[in-house]
Amino acid sequence: EKIGPAVDGVGGPADSRKGTGESEDTLTNRQGHPVTDNQNVRTVGNRGPTTLENYDFLEKISHFDRERIPERVVHARGAGAHGYFETYGTAGDEPVEKYTRAKVFQEKGKQTPVFVRFSTVVGGGQSAETLRDPRGFAVKFYTEDGNWDLVGNNLKIFFIRDPLKFPDMVHSFKPDPVSNIPDPERMFDFLSQSPEATHMVTFLFSPWGIPASYREMQGSGVNTYKWVNKDGEGVLVKYHWEPINNDIRNLTQKEADELQGKNLNHATQDLYEAIEKGEYPEWELCVQIMSDDDHPELDFDPLDPTKLWPADQFPFLKVGKMVLNKNPENYFNETEQIAFGTGVLVDGLDFSDDKLLQGRTFSYSDTQRHRVGSNYLQLPINAAKKRVATNQRGGQMQYYVDRAPSQNPHVDYEPSTLGGLREAEQNGKDHQPSYNDKLVREPIDRTNNFGQAGDTYRSFEEWEREELVSNLVDALKICQPQIQEKMVEYFTNADEDYGRRVSEGLKQAASEQGEHTGSEKADNAVDQAKNMGGEA
Ligand code: HEM
Repeated sequence: EKIGPAVDGVGGPADSRKGTGESEDTLTNRQGHPVTDNQNVRTVGNRGPTTLENYDFLEKISHFDRERIPERVVHARGAGAHGYFETYGTAGDEPVEKYTRAKVFQEKGKQTPVFVRFSTVVGGGQSAETLRDPRGFAVKFYTEDGNWDLVGNNLKIFFIRDPLKFPDMVHSFKPDPVSNIPDPERMFDFLSQSPEATHMVTFLFSPWGIPASYREMQGSGVNTYKWVNKDGEGVLVKYHWEPINNDIRNLTQKEADELQGKNLNHATQDLYEAIEKGEYPEWELCVQIMSDDDHPELDFDPLDPTKLWPADQFPFLKVGKMVLNKNPENYFNETEQIAFGTGVLVDGLDFSDDKLLQGRTFSYSDTQRHRVGSNYLQLPINAAKKRVATNQRGGQMQYYVDRAPSQNPHVDYEPSTLGGLREAEQNGKDHQPSYNDKLVREPIDRTNNFGQAGDTYRSFEEWEREELVSNLVDALKICQPQIQEKMVEYFTNADEDYGRRVSEGLKQAASEQGEHTGSEKADNAVDQAKNMGGEA
């Protein structure tokens, strides 16, 4: 049984404040001692020095010294809300059980509590919410079978397809390790050597790279997962959140710049205030389904996260809706300490062979053991809202034991004949994909790095294309020529008009800057390196 403090963050263990002169609202320290003076430290004479036995002061200041936990290595800036998911019991026109036995989707009308955290990716914990960046869209479903996390973004694709490249990619997007200044040249240096990113770059530098608010954007699981039915048959699935009661709206760079001059927190504020006013945002959850094979008829690999599955061939099937109707009571306890991960699936949901997904799946819980602590799953926001019974014991900050009431407390192992925990019965046939191939280090065969980037470019409205070209030119004009040339080559491969417009924009920018493009920055870098005694 849990003997933990109050679950919703207010108050602590049993209220027994009975000290002298104490009332309900008396300030105490963490030991429960009433605090009689919170203005003055104890000193030798009122001018000091301060003595070291000031327990109240030491306790207060030491807790303050530890108020921060490490911010997320990516997605540090976020906003969260509680709500519920309601299943339609169907996937399009079919009963959902045809594809998945996951209980969260069965029985039309059933509601499951959720917590959602929206975020930007690259900026730090207090950065502006107007930045050009994918937006995180992470949902924790507290299902009757335990937690399910759907850790997605607003954009439906990603920059890279191999997890080995993720730390390098993030380093190039984050500020320069010497100056701590974000530098598009570092970012495009990496991207110009990563042609698979062309499609994502096309979305990111268009207005789709700055959603107007969290309420006015879509969400997507991006990676391919599987659904498994009770016969153990699996299908490939992609998840999409579509806003129901808000339109999708993006900002031009100019609109974002103006907003940023006035408000660094507009997206958090918009979400918080809407929910306070009772204007609850809603999204419909849709899935795309494909049979679980490599689909040689497609000109892309279905497991490649840099690709969209064309909606005309793989229609969006509606499976339920989500409503966000309650703000967190405490930002730190809920929004900061919540821990999502792609490994957190329930029965009826499975992984696909998408290698990026497997890399992610290790990374999330690994970082959370460091960021939040080894018992992060016991925190109320992360704990399943159902019985949890494990034989995991100890670790920093463990307060209660995850044991079943009937469990012999002396038995923290399995198997046992002395009253320990037992394995559950299987809820349907196991899904057992089979493998027989060489172990290799190789890129996938159907990389097709530019085809869909071109389709996406052509699908934009003209004002979106103009924005895209102008934003790319702004970022690329300070880059070295070899970076510019490679990027123009990629854009041309995607669509000739796209490449031509970026190239012309760069030429014009160069003539406006007096032909100093690229080399001016390079000269500066050489000077800097010399000044620091290094070699350029
Ligand atoms: C956060 C790793 C790709 C969406 C994170 C965090 C890590 C990480 C370490 C911080 C988690 C925490 O501190 O709690 C990776 C790796 C990736 C990858 C290694 C690729 C190999 C992606 C992709 C998406 C995504 C493709 C979009 C589908 C998110 C979101 C968060 C996040 C939404 C923030 C979750 C929250 O609000 O707490 N990622 N990520 N990531 N990632 Fe990824």
